Amino acid sequence: MDTLKHLLKNNQDWAASILESDPEFFHKLANQQHPEYLWIGCSDSRVPANQITGLAPGEVFVHRNVANVVAETDFNVLAVMQYAVDVLKVRHIIICGHYGCGGVKAAYENFRHGMIDNWLAGIRSLNREHREELAALAPEAAVNRLCELNVLAQATHVVNTSILQDAWARGQKIAIHSWIYGLTSGLITPLAPSMHGPPNE
Ligand code: CO
Repeated sequence: MDTLKHLLKNNQDWAASILESDPEFFHKLANQQHPEYLWIGCSDSRVPANQITGLAPGEVFVHRNVANVVAETDFNVLAVMQYAVDVLKVRHIIICGHYGCGGVKAAYENFRHGMIDNWLAGIRSLNREHREELAALAPEAAVNRLCELNVLAQATHVVNTSILQDAWARGQKIAIHSWIYGLTSGLITPLAPSMHGPPNE
């Protein structure tokens, strides 16, 4: 039986290397977390939030799902958001998609993939809404454009939640950022100006 010994060994080496530079690191972190950022990203193994932003344990609260979806009916993302906003009082919410997203590609393709099609229904609607613009592009470019449109749409969903509306109404400072990550470049690009309050402000 494979007991994943190599991962446990990696973990021991990692913990030892952290303790070498800061013997109190885990003690300090065990008592409380004060992350400034909530990251909502794709589950894709190539887009690890901490690593690509250079953030240490304790610095970013993370929610990931297929195609970085923020659905107003998803208790999972809402619970994460509420905890991050109401309890942790994060200052930034980052929606980070990525080019070449398999989930977005599945939503773009015109055939069935199984249960995942239900999860991706919102992105399939987005695909229909932007059919004209997307039809003018080659398939790969169209998927990448849909990846961008998806980030912008999910950021709007974040803004529209009662969690964020209430936080802004009581004067809590939270900025929403719409980012996309390039798998081939390793670089993040902001897609729109950050939002610091309700759109009419
Ligand atoms: Co993805």
